[in-house]
Amino acid sequence: MKDILTAPFLIELVRTLTNMYAHGWDERNGGNVSVLLEEAELADFLDLNAVIRTIPTGFAAPELEGKYFLVTGTGKYFKNAQYDPAANLGVVRLTDQGAQAQLLWGFTDGGKFTSEFPAHMMSHVARWKVDPENRVVMHCHPANLLAMTYVHDLDEVKFTRTLWQMCTECIVVFPEGVNVLPWMLCGTNEIGEATAQKMESARLVVWAQHGIYGAGKDLDETFGLIETAEKAAEIWLKIAHLPLVNTISDEAMHLLEARFGVKAREGYLR
Ligand code: 13P
Ligand code: ZN
Repeated sequence: MKDILTAPFLIELVRTLTNMYAHGWDERNGGNVSVLLEEAELADFLDLNAVIRTIPTGFAAPELEGKYFLVTGTGKYFKNAQYDPAANLGVVRLTDQGAQAQLLWGFTDGGKFTSEFPAHMMSHVARWKVDPENRVVMHCHPANLLAMTYVHDLDEVKFTRTLWQMCTECIVVFPEGVNVLPWMLCGTNEIGEATAQKMESARLVVWAQHGIYGAGKDLDETFGLIETAEKAAEIWLKIAHLPLVNTISDEAMHLLEARFGVKAREGYLR
């Protein structure tokens, strides 16, 4: 059996969490990440019959049966993941259609998966319906996007168009736009269901006055999505109080669609 601390999926998650912290997106225990793992890639590192303990999840969905996830722990600080991965992270297998999580590795101090597990698992299920390749759900608290939700209209078309207009490549990176949820109580099945519903039409879902969710096929893609939207929000905050002289026109956006082979969300461009 190989040492799980040498597993590429674990090393990549630890590096990503460290990078997210360095970007200021994850103060204290802010943020959480879940990564879908294949049984075959885990079998080299863990005895899959050795269940450490079973943790109830409080929700269920048939699509989750038998699925394996590497996930951050509740109350854990991203900045510490690199020093003690086994205490801050866990590997779970979902059974009873997701109602139970069998702990196979990690959470060594008796902890458990993130309080946002419902939003993560329901978002994975929602994304598989539109993208069977989806493996990552990432939540964090980037300052500029968060700040924007205090002063910008939360209408999804308006919010998306503002972000698209702030960097030429935004429409290329997230042509489906950004979906937005109003403030809701976090850590609940309700916000999980609402997030998952929004995930059916976009890989980015802003939680007003809280943060953002991203989804993607790997950690790089998901990090890059959030990074791009956050950069756009930063630029908007730099210019929003100044007289606007220039912008990226809808005509220019259509040129970008043609040049990069992407299609902007229906009805979002004139
Ligand atoms: P957890 O520590 O439970 O992951 O919660 C952090 C967070 O960002 C809640 O939205
Ligand atoms: Zn949060």
